[in-house]
Formats: sequence, structure tokens, C-alpha cells
Amino acid sequence: MSKIRLGVLGGGGDSLIGVLHRVASHMFDRYEITGGVFNPNYEDNIKFANHIGVNTDRVYVDFDTFVAEETKLPKEERIEVVSVLTPNFLHFPMAKKLLENGFHVICEKPLTTSYAEALELEALQKKHNAIFAVTYTYTGYPMVRHMKHQIAAGELGEIQKIDVQYYQGWINPVIHDPEIRKTVWRLDPKKAGISSCIGDIGTHAFQMTEYLTGMEVKSVLSDLNMLYEDNPLDLDGTVLIRFSDTVKGVIRASQIATGEENGLTVAVYGQKGAFKWEQENPNVLYHIKDDEPKRIIKPGHAYVSDVAADGTKLPGGHPEGIFDAMGNIYKGVAKALRGETAFDGEYPTMNDGVRGMLFIKKVVESNKKGNVWLSLEKQ
Ligand SMILES: NC(=O)c1ccc[n+]([C@@H]2O[C@H](COP(=O)([O-])OP(=O)(O)OC[C@H]3O[C@@H](n4cnc5c(N)ncnc54)[C@H](O)[C@@H]3O)[C@@H](O)[C@H]2O)c1
Repeated sequence: MSKIRLGVLGGGGDSLIGVLHRVASHMFDRYEITGGVFNPNYEDNIKFANHIGVNTDRVYVDFDTFVAEETKLPKEERIEVVSVLTPNFLHFPMAKKLLENGFHVICEKPLTTSYAEALELEALQKKHNAIFAVTYTYTGYPMVRHMKHQIAAGELGEIQKIDVQYYQGWINPVIHDPEIRKTVWRLDPKKAGISSCIGDIGTHAFQMTEYLTGMEVKSVLSDLNMLYEDNPLDLDGTVLIRFSDTVKGVIRASQIATGEENGLTVAVYGQKGAFKWEQENPNVLYHIKDDEPKRIIKPGHAYVSDVAADGTKLPGGHPEGIFDAMGNIYKGVAKALRGETAFDGEYPTMNDGVRGMLFIKKVVESNKKGNVWLSLEKQ
């Protein structure tokens, strides 16, 4: 079967996330990076394309030229799906134009910089019947997929509490100097959107709560911290969430949790037991119960669910990491593009992206209104 022709926007040599997508796209030999715009500076763009071995004939001076030139090509040569890996404010204009011109899209989170834009993209995606993935990377881990599967199968019984924490510390050395903090796009509302910490990592935590439980959060109450009066965006937030009157939880996100690295931790408690998982130790899933010793579940064993096994390449004891998680998401998208049978949740969808933007909107609003409960029903 021919490889899927993949275009890449952003993700140049200077970026954080580019390498993850490039490695992930190659992991199962399903894609070929055919062209793109890796960097707004054309010289850097071409230099980088040469460095990674992409044919520079299909590396364009900017995004508009990318669309104009690619759409001139016959369908069987044209790039099929495009990964949007640019800063947040470019996701919407790029994804919009890509959808309007018949491309499928793999977009980084947060989907857009506003909920209204997210709804517009959702309508366009439906209109054009496009495959659209939003790369909530952590859903690609085998043990996260196992948790989702087992919760759906009733392993934990009725869910009664969920606690997702995502703590980083990287803004601490940046935020206390007004000059340095001006250089960070994640702290600039024009580039990041209406939220920094909640938009960047709180959305991962939120998406994880809905992904794992298969339920929708119905309302939120937030308390955010900006630290300085002249800093417009949140650096830290605690959000109470309610799925129903009896299923409740908490999302804690921070980028001023000094010394923390990428501390995403998940705990889901049901009547019959609980799962606990940590992103920094992703091959270990704890299954705890009232009256049994704690169990450790690991990938690569015959006892894991089919979806976890499908997302594991080597026998037990060979750690699956963040690259593998993103690789699994790309594999899910490849299956969708080629019309192959897939497991539920093999890649996060437009709906995850739209829900994420509604979450950000309501969390910011709840904090502004004095920490009040707000509905998360789709508007
Ligand atoms: N899924 C995850 O876990 C995860 C992790 C990190 C970042 N992200 C998301 O990925 C996106 C990028 O984040 P990052 O940390 O890699 O940012 P970054 O600032 O490190 O890199 C951005 C890249 O985009 C390029 N770029 C900027 N403007 C461009 C344009 N007009 N045309 C083409 N290229 C352009 C830059 O040159 C750079 O290569 C953000 O939306 C972020 O939220 C997601």
C-alpha cells in the first residue's frame, strides 16, 4: 500500500514538538513527509528540509503558497494530510484553509485560540467530511488505552471520583523577570489565546478525564493564578469538575510548580477499584482495590486489552514512551485515512479539540466571575 503523503507546518529544528511528530509519523512506515513549511524564514525552512531529507521542491515559502501549489497537483500526488505544529494562534487559520481545500488535518492542541473558532472548524470538518485529529499525545500510551478499555468494560464499577494533576515548573525561572517573560509566546494572549497554563496543559488533563471515563464534564469551577498584575494569562489553576451530582473530580494544572518536569498523574476511583497512572512512569498502571494487594499492569503482556496490545511494539520490559504514544495516534489516523478498522479512541478527534476549547473558555470565565460554577454543555 502506498505511503500517506504528509505535509508539515511548523515543527522546524527550533521547535519543541516537531521531532515527536516526525518520529511518530515514521514509526509504523505509514507516512512519508512529502513537503511543508517548517519555519517562517525560508532559508531556515530549506536548510531544515535538507537536514531531514525532505525534497525541497515541495517545501514552500509560506503557508498560502503551500496550499496554492499543492492544490495544483493531481490528487494522487498531492499531500493528503497536514500536521499543524505551529504556535496556537496559527492553528485556526491554517486548519480552516486546509479543510476548505480538501486536506485532512492532524492539529496540535489547543485546537484554536477561541471556542467560536473551534465551532467553525468543526462545521467545516463535517462539511468536507475530513479526518481531523487533535494530538492529545498522552492518549496514545498503551496503559492509558488499557485504562479506558477496562473502565468501559466495568472493571472499576461506577466511577465516583477522578483526579488529574498536570504539574510543570518551567515558567518559574521565566515569570519573575518582566523582560524575559515578554519573549515567551505562551504568555502572549495574541499567540497563546485567553489562557496559558490551562490552555497548554490543563486541556490535556481535561481531555484525559473525558477520554478515560467516556463521560462529559457537565460543569466547572476554577481558581487561577497569574502571579503578577501585569501578567494577563494564568500560570496555575485548580478546577473542580462535575460529571453529575455524584461523579465529581478535580483538575490541577500548574507551570509554576517549581522543579516539576512533566508531571501528569491520573487517578480514577470507582466503586470496585481504582486506576492510578503517571506520565513520567508510563509503563506502570496501578490497579487498586479495597481488599487485595495493589496490582501492577504493564504493556507487552498477554493479559492487556487488545487496544493496548495493538499500541505496543515489543515484548514486556521494553519501555513505551512519549514517541510511541504519538506514533500510536499517527497509526490511528492512518487507519482512518485508509478506511481500516480501528479501536475506539485510537486518535483524539475534532470533538476532543472543541470540548477542550469550551473548557478553556469556561475556566477563564469562572475565575473572572469570582470562582463560580459554569455549565460545560455545548452551546
Ligand atoms: N501534544 C503535546 O503534548 C504538545 C507538547 C508541546 C507543544 N504542543 C503544541 O504544539 C504547538 C507548537 O508548540 P512548540 O512548543 O513546538 O512551539 P515552538 O515555539 O517550539 O515551535 C513552533 C514552530 O513553528 C514554526 N512556525 C512559527 N510560525 C510559523 C509559520 N507561520 N509557518 C511555519 N512555521 C512556523 C517555528 O519556526 C517553530 O519551528 C503548540 O500549539 C503547542 O501547544 C503540544
